[in-house]
Amino acid sequence: MTTDATSGLALPVVDEALAERLRQRLDDVENALAYHVRGSADFITEAAGHLMAAGGKRFRPLLVLLAAETGPDAADDKVVTAACVVELTHLASLYHDDVMDEAALRRGADSANARWDNHVAILTGDFLFSKSSLLTADLGADAVRIQAQTFTQLVEGQMLETIKPAPGQDPLEHYLQVVAGKTGSLIATSARYGAMFGGASDEVVSALTAYGELVGSAFQLSDDILDVASDSAESGKTPGTDLREGVPTLPVLMAQASTDPADARLIELLSSDLSDDALHAETLGLLRKHPAMEQARDYVKGQAADAKAMLGVLPEGPVRAALEAFADVVAVRSA
Ligand code: IPE
Ligand code: IPE
Ligand code: MG
Ligand code: MG
Repeated sequence: MTTDATSGLALPVVDEALAERLRQRLDDVENALAYHVRGSADFITEAAGHLMAAGGKRFRPLLVLLAAETGPDAADDKVVTAACVVELTHLASLYHDDVMDEAALRRGADSANARWDNHVAILTGDFLFSKSSLLTADLGADAVRIQAQTFTQLVEGQMLETIKPAPGQDPLEHYLQVVAGKTGSLIATSARYGAMFGGASDEVVSALTAYGELVGSAFQLSDDILDVASDSAESGKTPGTDLREGVPTLPVLMAQASTDPADARLIELLSSDLSDDALHAETLGLLRKHPAMEQARDYVKGQAADAKAMLGVLPEGPVRAALEAFADVVAVRSA
């Protein structure tokens, strides 16, 4: 995902001066994050630093930094603070998500719930959310309101995922609502914060927020495709976790819509209890070969194209090109 010119950045940035600025600010974000995850006891610092130290792509802070480049104040300290806010919120959500999903692996390391237990994972997530909120206070009341609204949407998305579609609601529509909430909201806020604190015009802030919503949902859809397609060496997570937990995802919903009699076994498996290893492996094998995978990838590419169309308000140049590349990276990571 990186290029020679931009090693250390999770997207290709052709303009070397821009790439260098982003790398330097990401370093600032990294140092600030290490400071903000410290607690009043060594164990708290260890638990809160566990997933930060394990890795992660830092997509959200990168998007904040990049979006800030659309305005005159990209070097403002508040931009780095906003980047920390979104990564801390994300990090907190990962601790909680792994409890919900009973996931054992995260960022190539033991999840906090596996390393310690659910109590530690939940409290560490709470700790990180509170650190994120504290930091948001430095950004002013508007930022606090946006952060609270974002967190509401994220939590609503996570909660909606645990229930079935409303009576009469299309399962795909329900799923897209979940995705927009649990992932699109924070990525949209990353773009919005970046543009806001970079001093961009209201028009650009709105366009980048809409871009972030689309890119954010596409990012989750790609992640769901990767849950089926990738192995853990690539993703740092256990493949087929969504399937095992019965969490519907784009390729599953598309396969379930098939009326081809050849798909009868897959459709039967998809509505069974997949906690059984052999049934789980059989389902994963059938799904990986199914045309629904390609259909899902096409859908993501379409969404990335829609996101890029939002960038028309920006002048042509390295920043717009990098934002376009960002959307492409998200779309092709599952290709
Ligand atoms: C994982 O997000 C959770 C999703 C919303 C898909 P990332 O894929 O950004 O996770 P890290 O931060 O790189 O570990
Ligand atoms: C993650 O959703 C969303 C949040 C953490 C808010 P998933 O459960 O689909 O993501 P992974 O696959 O565990 O990263
Ligand atoms: Mg999960
Ligand atoms: Mg989850």
